[in-house]
Amino acid sequence: MKILITGATGLLGRSLVKSALSQGFKINFLTSRKSKINCFDNAKGFYWDLLKGDIDTNCFLGVDIIIHLTGASISKLWTTSHKKLIYSSRIESTRLLISSLKKIQGKHHVKQIIAASAIGIYPSDLEKTFTETAKVYPNSFMEKVVIAWENEVDLFSSLKISVTKMRIGLVLSNEGGVLSPLKIPTSFGLGMAFGNGNQGQSWIHISDVVGIFFKACREKWEGVYNVVSPNPVNQVDFISALSKALKRPYFLPPIPKILLKILIGEMSSLVLDSHWISAKKVIDEKYKFLHPEINKAMYDIFNSSKL
Ligand SMILES: NC(=O)c1ccc[n+]([C@@H]2O[C@H](COP(=O)([O-])OP(=O)(O)OC[C@H]3O[C@@H](n4cnc5c(N)ncnc54)[C@H](OP(=O)(O)O)[C@@H]3O)[C@@H](O)[C@H]2O)c1
Repeated sequence: MKILITGATGLLGRSLVKSALSQGFKINFLTSRKSKINCFDNAKGFYWDLLKGDIDTNCFLGVDIIIHLTGASISKLWTTSHKKLIYSSRIESTRLLISSLKKIQGKHHVKQIIAASAIGIYPSDLEKTFTETAKVYPNSFMEKVVIAWENEVDLFSSLKISVTKMRIGLVLSNEGGVLSPLKIPTSFGLGMAFGNGNQGQSWIHISDVVGIFFKACREKWEGVYNVVSPNPVNQVDFISALSKALKRPYFLPPIPKILLKILIGEMSSLVLDSHWISAKKVIDEKYKFLHPEINKAMYDIFNSSKL
């Protein structure tokens, strides 16, 4: 099976490429940086330029499945121009894939797209648990982006390509993502939660993200899936697990909500929003989590994870 991965040079992409190659999949990938075209041994890189709408359509040849991860980071400061990039990198990349596939119709045999999405599509709620069938509304910036992104991805079905949307939670990894900014203060014993610390944190170990994506490839899942562990925790327990894994004390009170809003404005929603998200659908598909429990997952990340 041949897979084309966009955003392959990022946190999730690197783990997916490594795992795919070890399982014998053939990999093409699209990168927006010419310097990265040869960055993987045994995977073939192709260049695309979203601004110019340029793409090397040879990237689609022989491909069965597209894994679409491209998107500008949401952890950089949300200036007006970066917010535009967060939105446009996701929308324009999806549009470029679709318009290119249309142009070479009959010359490719892509059957499925597995696209990254995010649990940020759900409303923030301190108590309610959301499943994939929940109604979503474009109220906050993040909700607007993710809803528009999913709507764009849905258009692959007009090309008779089956669509799988993965609403990914907070990915635990030692190489980037949500733990990067948190582990620095925590490793000095200065770990702390935000707001009242009761916000739901629907996390997932990176090995389980990879495991779920490949099960979806092999078994041709279709529709929306929450990619989260079965045991979300509140933020105090999340930071406590991180502190334990780093073998540091955790004693500081949470940073008040108002201070965060003054410091980083709208972006404070990233740490103040609460998401209790259900993993039931993935469990019903018989996915067996490698790291279902937060303390053991954090321990693995900092003491034995190779991903
Ligand atoms: N990590 C998480 O906790 C998490 C949670 C929920 C959802 N997700 C979603 O899953 C996807 C992958 O996440 P990740 O953590 O692997 O992201 P990442 O490390 O930030 O990598 C994303 C990749 O997208 C490409 N990219 C970034 N900005 C771009 C731009 N302006 N134009 C074109 N390409 C651009 C880059 O690849 P090139 O430079 O090679 O083009 C980059 O390596 C993202 O869409 C993210 O929103 C992640």
